[in-house]
Amino acid sequence: MKGIILAGGNGSRLYPITQGISKQLLPVYDKPMIYYPLSVLMLTNIKDVLLISNTEYIHLFENLLGDGKRLGMKIHYKIQEKPRGLADAFILGEEFIGEDDVCLILGDNVFYGQGFVDKLVKASKNNKGATIFGYYLNNPSDFGVVEFDDKGKVVSLEEKPEKPKSHYAIPGLYFYDNSVIKRAKKLKPSARGELEITDLNRDYLGEGRLYVELLGRGFAWLDTGTYDGLADASDFVKTIQKRTGLYVACIEEIAYKNGWISEEELKNIGIQYQKTEYGKYILSLISDKRREK
Ligand code: DAU
Repeated sequence: MKGIILAGGNGSRLYPITQGISKQLLPVYDKPMIYYPLSVLMLTNIKDVLLISNTEYIHLFENLLGDGKRLGMKIHYKIQEKPRGLADAFILGEEFIGEDDVCLILGDNVFYGQGFVDKLVKASKNNKGATIFGYYLNNPSDFGVVEFDDKGKVVSLEEKPEKPKSHYAIPGLYFYDNSVIKRAKKLKPSARGELEITDLNRDYLGEGRLYVELLGRGFAWLDTGTYDGLADASDFVKTIQKRTGLYVACIEEIAYKNGWISEEELKNIGIQYQKTEYGKYILSLISDKRREK
């Protein structure tokens, strides 16, 4: 399975912070925002990733992550000239995806919770359609919304409905079989001029090939799209890390635990960052083998 991170857009809801920098490079507590979605792909055991961003910022992501070798991965880059919508990722990514299945994650989505890896692995093994997620929100009208019938069967999908038919928002994490490329190419731009991921998911739904997994209570899906959302996400990560001593989205830790980099390579990264708590954490992974898996 291949992975795509969509990290373009103009971040206008966060101006002036994002006037001169990509939103997905802003810090969420102690690391760049892009580490969080990248860590989700890594936890899914996806080694081959395409990062899509706009002309202005693509080189900044390249400066940060390079070709991915440092993490035992392959990271490729592609420019999206205009924010043509989330489903554009599969048109831009056609060559990269090739014959494989693909997981798309939005560069500004942060996830954290027990049992997540099991859900990711399960979704990645469904190669007969699409798997998306549902997350209970008091008011989901800023998001894609999924409606279920009494038996839990999906009845409808709507993009940013004024009057949502359910409380379940659809987070920016999607698993698709290879037919997603041809389905994306068939889509017509919506009223807001975008190729909508919700239209793509409706296409799968129409054929009975859409699976929705619920992310339950106690699971965190955080919004980083507003000043408050960004500050709350930082506070959340800080609280979890200080309390447990375990890091959220430490990409070097995941690469090491996945067996993609050696202890020696991990140590070298830790030494490079050793003036920081982040570097000390990486070094502690080597000295403290009793650490939680
Ligand atoms: O966050 C989840 C929501 O993401 C879903 O519930 C919605 O169904 C889905 O449409 C999307 O909602 P938004 O319209 O709020 O997404 P936004 O335009 O904020 O873009 C999400 C991220 O993708 C953001 O980091 C910018 C990036 N992006 C967006 C577009 C439209 C791109 O890189 N290229 C694009 O063309």
